[in-house]
Amino acid sequence: MDQSTKNMNKLIELNKVTKKFGGITALNKASLHVDVGEVVGLIGDNGAGKSTLIKTLVGVYFPDEGDIIIRGKKVSSWSALKAREAGIETVFQDRALCPQQSIVWNIFMGKELTYPFGFIREKEQIREANRLIREIGFTSKLIDAESPVGNLSGGERQGVAIARAIYNNAELIILDEPTNALSLNETQKVFEFVRNVKKSNRSVLFIGHNIFHVYDISDRFVILDRGEVVHNFSKTEISSPEELMKIMRDTVRKN
Ligand SMILES: Nc1ncnc2c1ncn2[C@@H]1O[C@H](COP(=O)(O)OP(=O)(O)OP(=O)(O)O)[C@@H](O)[C@H]1O
Ligand SMILES: [Mg+2]
Repeated sequence: MDQSTKNMNKLIELNKVTKKFGGITALNKASLHVDVGEVVGLIGDNGAGKSTLIKTLVGVYFPDEGDIIIRGKKVSSWSALKAREAGIETVFQDRALCPQQSIVWNIFMGKELTYPFGFIREKEQIREANRLIREIGFTSKLIDAESPVGNLSGGERQGVAIARAIYNNAELIILDEPTNALSLNETQKVFEFVRNVKKSNRSVLFIGHNIFHVYDISDRFVILDRGEVVHNFSKTEISSPEELMKIMRDTVRKN
């Protein structure tokens, strides 16, 4: 068990959060924290409560019981707006990027840099978008801020969505099944982006079904089972993805 008490480093914490839908307990006293600059892998079978947990973090749900603690401070009210203000951004698999539009358009969508009369500061946006995509790891000379998103691969599109989250001042980026439906190469690209997010001292919560992917990229693993956090391991405690897989299987078998 990870018993770390580095409270200073805790970016966000859910403390014994319970969320019910009618008779269904989707989260049962679930506790989880993400430290600054940490990549946490969240795993669990279908129906384990992963989506409910994410939706709680991003302010779609307020817990029936338990606390949400941001940078050491318990929140008294919670909403999608508050979550964004706290620097929590989600990148969904099917996140609506506009494929006909450019990378820069997609990054700044709805939050354009403008002059006082409302004209868009295009050159500045292009410069900033180029800086952002290089920072998170776009290396191809064929791609720049003005390339249409429609020309990008699945992994690169995830990168654009991550760049947008960073532009929106994200401190915690939640990636929901980011490597589903991606080729090996594309997956490596997403990992590269995630490593760069970590390097910039931001945090990532990585949700995945593929244990090998989650193992590769995470510093810590949290296993959910029927609404409960049943394991919380630092990577140093688990020697291989096979071991993590076995722990997952044993968890499910107990049912
Ligand atoms: N809005 C809702 N109304 C009723 N029940 C819900 C609702 N959302 C989730 N549940 C139930 O809560 C439990 C947890 O669901 P959740 O979607 O969080 O699981 P999950 O781990 O994301 O699963 P999956 O891997 O299939 O996406 C399930 O039993 C689900 O049916
Ligand atoms: Mg889900």
